[in-house]
Amino acid sequence: MAYETIIVEVENHVAQITLNRPDALNALNDELMKELADALSAAQDNEKVRCIIITGSEKAFAAGADIAMMKDKSFVEAFSGDLFTPETDQIMRVRKPIIAAVSGYALGGGCELAMMCDFIICSETAKFGQPEINLGVVAGIGGTQRLTRIVGKSKAMDMNLTGRFMDANEAERSGLASRVVPCKKLLEEANAAAQKIAEKSMISVMVVKEAVNRAYEVPLREGLLFERRMFHSLFATEDQSEGMSAFLEKREAQFRDK
Ligand code: HXC
Repeated sequence: MAYETIIVEVENHVAQITLNRPDALNALNDELMKELADALSAAQDNEKVRCIIITGSEKAFAAGADIAMMKDKSFVEAFSGDLFTPETDQIMRVRKPIIAAVSGYALGGGCELAMMCDFIICSETAKFGQPEINLGVVAGIGGTQRLTRIVGKSKAMDMNLTGRFMDANEAERSGLASRVVPCKKLLEEANAAAQKIAEKSMISVMVVKEAVNRAYEVPLREGLLFERRMFHSLFATEDQSEGMSAFLEKREAQFRDK
């Protein structure tokens, strides 16, 4: 499928999806969200892809949902249209890991999209925020929920109530970003992380993703049980045998996703 608002490149087992609406700082509109969800599903189905990166431009990862698109909506249109819900559901169904590589603005829906990814690597110029309050609305796809679970109540309230932006260092300190790197190195670093992941057994990788995400959904005791049972299950794989043998034989493991 030819895309108008994103660019997809697949190289060395990594699918890189670049949000590409430069005139609107990559604001998320229907078309972009549909194309993004479609590209992610395609990456999920493509056996060559073992890790996915979502990125934007140097100036903006995404400056939020497209305000021009939303401005004249009535309540009924907003409610029955259920903006971005099918697309975000589709994004959440992707079982391969997704890294958000964030430079510049990640605001509103942009910050929320980054939080839907499995982890965020950001550049020194990154600015995260939930400024919907300035528009007379509130976050709609995770800004009050995922952000609170990630950075805690105090910072989530601060960002959602005042609309202030968090810079890269604060984002890393707060656990929103896993690493901060110089702007010019952002994609190199994200790709290096993706390559590292691509070398692992895909089965373990998908189990990690499921298990960590489960920590946000279930009580600790249930999560620990799920983790332990998944640990036990992996002893049914050839990759467990290969990984442990390779360690003891002091060589690199050759995982076959079996
Ligand atoms: C539509 C946007 C946009 C947005 C920027 N643009 N953000 N268009 N929707 N969210 C457009 C501007 O209108 C402008 O177009 C061009 O991009 C450049 O933006 P400027 O404002 O001129 O740039 P700058 O002065 O550098 O300011 C950057 C900025 C600012 C701080 C990021 O653009 C800004 O505050 N944007 C809105 C951020 C926001 O409120 N996000 C939350 C949206 S609500 P022209 O044509 O004039 O050049 C949301 C809800 C999600 O995300 C829930 C969904 C269910």
